[in-house]
Amino acid sequence: MKALVLAGGTGSRLRPFTFTSAKQLLPIANKPVLFYGLEAIAEAGIQETAIVVGRHGAEIREAVADGSAFGLRVTYLHQERPLGLAHAVLIAREFLGDDDFLLYLGDNYLQEGLTGFVERAVAHPDAARLLLTPVADPTSFGVAELDGRGRVLRLEEKPDRPRSDLALIGVYVFSAAVHEAVRAITPSARGELEITDAVQWMIGRGMRVGAETTSRPWRDTGSVDDLLEVNRQVLDGMEGGIDGKVDPASTLIGRVRVAEGAVVRGSRVVGPVVIGAGTVVSNSRIGPYTSIAEDCRVEDSAIEYSVLLRGAAVEGASRIEASLIGRGAVVSPAPRLHGAHRLVIGDHSRVQLTP
Ligand code: G1P
Repeated sequence: MKALVLAGGTGSRLRPFTFTSAKQLLPIANKPVLFYGLEAIAEAGIQETAIVVGRHGAEIREAVADGSAFGLRVTYLHQERPLGLAHAVLIAREFLGDDDFLLYLGDNYLQEGLTGFVERAVAHPDAARLLLTPVADPTSFGVAELDGRGRVLRLEEKPDRPRSDLALIGVYVFSAAVHEAVRAITPSARGELEITDAVQWMIGRGMRVGAETTSRPWRDTGSVDDLLEVNRQVLDGMEGGIDGKVDPASTLIGRVRVAEGAVVRGSRVVGPVVIGAGTVVSNSRIGPYTSIAEDCRVEDSAIEYSVLLRGAAVEGASRIEASLIGRGAVVSPAPRLHGAHRLVIGDHSRVQLTP
């Protein structure tokens, strides 16, 4: 089996971060979300992997390289514009040949990994096999209707009136039969070739489409809220470990990971928290559920349930919560002029001020 990983897309809900970076490289517990998926693919025994990239392709190539660090052999395919998941399958035709393949959305986080799903797909070869999960609001997903035996009767992409609460979570196994389907369908109302329509086309031709439902945590990290929540979940399962320097005036509570080359001085850190290499935290209160990437500086601040990206600096911020702070961004106290806020923030940024 091969794998086709989608890492294009515009990431509009994650602006401004996605102006300069691929959403799939945003870190969860200081590791790019894409890496969790690639590790799970390797663990499931797959090696031949193609990553479909868009305008941030260069950054993804640099991060993943030939894939050998993950035990994969990675090829890159360029998708000029995000024209849909089925379009990605279309452009991967040559790479995929007639092999079965796992289609995986690179900004997904799936706690249970992929091994069981792939094993069961091999054991029960269908034209396609889908992974589903019950969601509270199915209208923003592809939605499946099943018969009593786990066969898919019908699929709809983002239906106004969903027939079930079972959402497609962006993990699929396909046989070569999908290639005819992606050639046959036409673009949806949002102008994309939907993989949901391709699978529905297969069902309409009498092909067998199987499904299984998981209730283990899954999320796409397409928005800041999702990213913070996945970060919380991953930190929750993480081990602590102190490889950096923590001075005697600091208190660490619970599971805290301080990377080699990180320094914590005069601070109280309540886990789960990760602090990346080269970062200095002083006179601050950090956590719980906070990831601070490499080369950051946090001084005289309190930060909870947040993610700081590489090289960010936060100083004199009495309380920061549920925040995502970008690479090299600086948060600092204003000079005491007339109590004014002074903001230099990028396009599509969001700032919430307390009065
Ligand atoms: C895509 C699929 C949809 C699926 C979702 C999972 O939607 O089209 O069927 O439920 O991924 O994240 P998109 O994220 O492109 O809106």
